[in-house]
Amino acid sequence: MSLSGLPWEAYQALDADARAHHLMASGRPEHVLMAQQFRRAELDAICALATEIRLLAKSQPGALYLSQVLAHKRAMLYFTQPSTRTFLSHQAACQILGLQTGEVRDTATSSEMKGESREDSVRTFSSYFDLIIMRTKERGLAERMAWVLSQSERPVPIINAGSGQDQHPTQALLDIYTLQRSFETCGGIDGKHIAFVGDLARGRTVRSLAALLANYRDVSISFIAPEAFQIGTDVLTLLRACGVTVSVSDNLQAILPVADGVYMTRVQDEWDAEAGDSARVDVSRFHLRPADVDKMKPTAVIMHPLPRREEVPPEIDHDPRAMYWRQMRNGMWVRAALIAQIFGVDEAICAHIRDQAHGA
Ligand code: CP
Repeated sequence: MSLSGLPWEAYQALDADARAHHLMASGRPEHVLMAQQFRRAELDAICALATEIRLLAKSQPGALYLSQVLAHKRAMLYFTQPSTRTFLSHQAACQILGLQTGEVRDTATSSEMKGESREDSVRTFSSYFDLIIMRTKERGLAERMAWVLSQSERPVPIINAGSGQDQHPTQALLDIYTLQRSFETCGGIDGKHIAFVGDLARGRTVRSLAALLANYRDVSISFIAPEAFQIGTDVLTLLRACGVTVSVSDNLQAILPVADGVYMTRVQDEWDAEAGDSARVDVSRFHLRPADVDKMKPTAVIMHPLPRREEVPPEIDHDPRAMYWRQMRNGMWVRAALIAQIFGVDEAICAHIRDQAHGA
């Protein structure tokens, strides 16, 4: 059952699993709102499609084919919270598939300044566009807007490009794609030990990626942070319920030799209740220095959703284990794959690739 016809109160009363079930009822995302709506089969399919698109886009005929696949669609980028990567990679993903884009990045330039509600703004976007990609600082707003559109005459899909401190599902998808590519020749993500480091309490990328990692067999996750920035108990409960081995500590040095992936994060001081709150927490022990990288496994990867500050200095960028620049580029391919799935052109793209391979 889709969100259409489901009262808002009934939707709100559902747990994450039940919400995910509604969002994926048709077999493809009605909206992309939360990491939990992607299970292992969907993750494998998105990663495989991202690779197909990435390889196809390398040639001019392939890029030309892709640019016509969704040339009849338009996407609205509604980003009322700062972004570089998520905005540009979604825009680039749209360009790869031929969608034209519009944008609102500052409500000071939209009719929200005249008192228009978010609901009316989003319904207005749906009059002109076939997809809305939105980032907001309000927790749950993307879900609310998705529900509003699903009840409307123009039920266009919403992609949550970051909502408050709770979810960043497309970042988690690109992180999974990066891990999968990194571990391609050593057994994939199953059985790997991933350490999250830094401000885990307020990092939505960590919350979403942790939820996706629960889909893999025998994964261990360590959360390494000062007490003030440690991961929420809700994430620990979810992971334990899925059988994931979790540990919580403030000892980065102990985890470096055993982790297969070290996922660094910056201090998220934009969420401080009072300016300067974060500055009172000593995070220097949670910075990765070149000497720390020497202690890591040769096959390990260093990831970061970016933007970064001091926690990963540029001297580390040249280490082959530093994956964050590739991680960022992977975002474009994964988001193109996701948009292709939303509009149901994924099978056509794969059929085109098969035909080309057989000389049709
Ligand atoms: N990783 C990420 O969300 O980056 P931006 O804030 O630049 O979009």
